[in-house]
Amino acid sequence: MNESRPASMNSFWMPFTNNRDFKANPRLLVSAEGVYYKDVDGNPILDGTAGLWCVPCGHAQPKIVAAVREMIGQLDFAPTFQMGHPAAFDLAEKLMEYSNHRFGHVFYTNSGSEAVDTALKIALAYHKARGEASRTRLIGRERAYHGVGFGGISVGGIAGNRKPYGVMLPGVDHLPHTHNPEKNAFTRGEPEHGMNLADELERIVALHDASTIAAVIVEPVAGSTGVLVPPKGYLKRLRELCTKHGILLIFDEVITGFGRLTTPFASDYFDVEPDMMTTAKGLTNGVIPMGAVFSKKFIHDAFMEAPPGIELFHGYTYSGHPVACAASLATLEVFREQNILDNAKAIQPYWEDAVHALKGLPHVIDIRTIGLVAGIELAPIAGKPGARAYAAFKKMFADGVLIRVTGDIIALSPPLTFEKKHIDELFGKLTTVLKTLE
Ligand SMILES: Cc1ncc(COP(=O)(O)O)c(C=O)c1O
Repeated sequence: MNESRPASMNSFWMPFTNNRDFKANPRLLVSAEGVYYKDVDGNPILDGTAGLWCVPCGHAQPKIVAAVREMIGQLDFAPTFQMGHPAAFDLAEKLMEYSNHRFGHVFYTNSGSEAVDTALKIALAYHKARGEASRTRLIGRERAYHGVGFGGISVGGIAGNRKPYGVMLPGVDHLPHTHNPEKNAFTRGEPEHGMNLADELERIVALHDASTIAAVIVEPVAGSTGVLVPPKGYLKRLRELCTKHGILLIFDEVITGFGRLTTPFASDYFDVEPDMMTTAKGLTNGVIPMGAVFSKKFIHDAFMEAPPGIELFHGYTYSGHPVACAASLATLEVFREQNILDNAKAIQPYWEDAVHALKGLPHVIDIRTIGLVAGIELAPIAGKPGARAYAAFKKMFADGVLIRVTGDIIALSPPLTFEKKHIDELFGKLTTVLKTLE
């Protein structure tokens, strides 16, 4: 194992990174186990973000590591175009089981971005297959993150991710975001105010007509733009309106899937049925890149009624990669055998109390929690948006804790195997750091 610094950091063009700043002061992780990373100097770094929201079962989980090792030795690659391998089929059945058979089929991708683009394409092709080819519009939401494909940034709602890339997909509209700190600050779980924002879909329908709209895509809880929890009743209302107008509802569960809200999916937590669900990250415990689109049976059925031949002209070389399937099968076993969701449920009240105890500390203007997620919003430094939270991120790393920041919001999402002592360590250090920020 290479635990030394790289000879040069010049050639790696790092994603979503201030490359010049990072390379001047790098943070290098060299190993991980349980809920800790180790940095290149040998310091333990508590993982307050489950990597990038993607390691629910903790790092180096022995069962998952063993499954990956075994599959690489047995079947390193197999195509899934016009052929297959057992693990891809076994996993699909297990995923249906894990979702309580609320879905009928699963389409594999390699990332959340690909899952989003796949779901959008399935939505368009579904309406076409049913003879409603005029349904081509896609509706996203402001402040949404749906990855970085052209579909995802088109329905996404983050200006920085959109503005350099031209006009993107045509025929996209956006619902307003639901963030309302004036009315909902310091809420535990779903905030009271804002359900009526779902009715904005009626306005969009009135403008374009339902017969032109294919799908609405939302994150049940928006993660990347700072943990925006849906107002009470909002998602149910959105579901009602989509049903009323024959519009498919897609939940982007790339971060909320696999236990983040203490339930298998956010759709379980909110008791709202989407027609499709995009997932990735926790699907393999982050070990091997993989995404998956869960689809209701009626969508798949519409394709199977077409004349004989390939039903969906879409797929990736690595769709259902055997090693990813092995990692995911093992992840599902770990979820069951180690009662990962029960642990998350048991620790959640302690987590929530610890986060809300930060209220009153310098700069903290809002705190939002749901499941094992927290958003802590800081007042920005005048003229330097994001600088205060970025300083917190750097100081926390130097103090041995990995947090994530987006703008001036600290977003926390630990592995679901977190214990009270880890929560105490995280918030003990965060309290100190918040007191030292400019
Ligand atoms: C809700 C959501 N959708 C899609 C994505 C994109 O996933 P990926 O980075 O695997 O492409 C993310 C990533 O954070 C996400 O949070």
